[in-house]
Amino acid sequence: MRRKIVAGNWKMNKTQPEFKLLVEQLLKLSNDAIRTDIIIAPPYLYLEQLVDLVSKTSGVYACAQNCSTEKAGAFTGEVSAEMIASVGVEYVIIGHSERRSFFGEDNEVLAKKVNMAVGENLKLIFCCGEQLKDREAKDQEATVRDQLKESLFHLSADAMKNVVIAYEPVWAIGTGLTATPDQAQEMHAFIRGLLMKHYDDSTAESTPILYGGSCNEKNAAELFSKSDIDGGLIGGASLDAEKFVAIARSFA
Ligand code: PGA
Repeated sequence: MRRKIVAGNWKMNKTQPEFKLLVEQLLKLSNDAIRTDIIIAPPYLYLEQLVDLVSKTSGVYACAQNCSTEKAGAFTGEVSAEMIASVGVEYVIIGHSERRSFFGEDNEVLAKKVNMAVGENLKLIFCCGEQLKDREAKDQEATVRDQLKESLFHLSADAMKNVVIAYEPVWAIGTGLTATPDQAQEMHAFIRGLLMKHYDDSTAESTPILYGGSCNEKNAAELFSKSDIDGGLIGGASLDAEKFVAIARSFA
């Protein structure tokens, strides 16, 4: 059976004391009864402390929100995959739509980041998803296919064992508009079909595909009931421990 995962992308939110409080609340609320892997992606600054805080809790993992295309050197303000791995972080998010749209990260840049992360044995949450204009033009599948082909599918089947894909329609992120469970399932099945085509049955069957975009404690259960939806990448609702844990408990 595929792993079930709920990942919280905190984006640029929370001061250090607020970060610590939220992690403590989360750890208190989540317990062994949750069969879901929980991944927490706070700002870089708090990652080392997060690793310490979650080290005694199995099934809870630290994740960076981004990494540099470069290995090391004169790149002011950047953080390398090697640095992230060196503090014990296991995951990194690559290709979030905010990185694509606000910071100009295109498929070529993201392929470099993927290689940096894989080179450091980090696990990836690779985000893909169409904009509203793509969906209106019925180009959503071609957009997602190109994102995956150009940034991710050069990896070997072996490296793909460390990849989680997150489908996040851009029009649903932070807008309160969620893809319907059927719309999400349709795209997840399409992505699984691409994995089958570019790799093999076992890669397609074992790669978790998360849904992201206004996923919350009210709509998670219906989304997660779909056969190809293996969990969620949660923005807004991950900033509240009760809501986030409720989402993690939404698997039937
Ligand atoms: P949202 O964000 O849950 O606030 O829509 C999801 C994301 O950006 O990963």
